[in-house]
Amino acid sequence: MPESLIVIAIDGPAGSGKSTVARAVADRLGLSYLDTGAMYRAVAFEAIRRGIEPDDRPTVAELARQVELEVGEKVLVNGADATVEIRSPEVTRAVSSVAANPDVRKELVLRQREWAEGHGGGVVEGRDIGTVVFPDAPLKVFLTASEDERASRRSKEMLDRDYDRVAADMARRDRIDSTRSASPLSAAPDAVELDTTGLDAAQVVERVMALVVERVAR
Ligand code: DC
Repeated sequence: MPESLIVIAIDGPAGSGKSTVARAVADRLGLSYLDTGAMYRAVAFEAIRRGIEPDDRPTVAELARQVELEVGEKVLVNGADATVEIRSPEVTRAVSSVAANPDVRKELVLRQREWAEGHGGGVVEGRDIGTVVFPDAPLKVFLTASEDERASRRSKEMLDRDYDRVAADMARRDRIDSTRSASPLSAAPDAVELDTTGLDAAQVVERVMALVVERVAR
């Protein structure tokens, strides 16, 4: 990563508050924001739309290389707005196997690095940002929260608002994301771990901003 690129890596499991916090920190710093989970979701969405089995690794990898993705305020997949659809329960169920596909990861990691170069750095959230995508990021934050709190946050933000089903899906996804062989979810050794249980988003943002002041020369 070129010296001039400031990337703030925000990793953690589903429902740990990454998106809200990463977006707010990016706003405060005037940096761009990238939700890499939306990229994996977009590939899963397009696979389902084309009737491709999410477990069909070579076909899904080829799709990941071909598909045109724009991830910003809106998520465009081959030019079509899929902002809402990528959060559907169907995509949520399929996305773990898409994200466990090493060739899909290879392609999306490349695109994430290109994005950072094109935007002069930014706040990037995901699962492997501090470990794999930007191992030299000057600030890596790993957010956690209790399982119960994560499931209740998630059920508020997903299209599927049934707490029990969201909790079960999330536990299943956490298990796959943490035990897959390709870039499993884990904190980088130099990441700052922040337990957000019982904290509201504004409090977490304040803590991250304090870390920015402390660790990122501005
Ligand atoms: O953050 P999210 O729930 O929208 O992420 C969707 C899926 O993509 C989730 O199963 C984890 C996976 N993911 C990943 O493997 N690596 C990333 N950098 C971001 C998300």
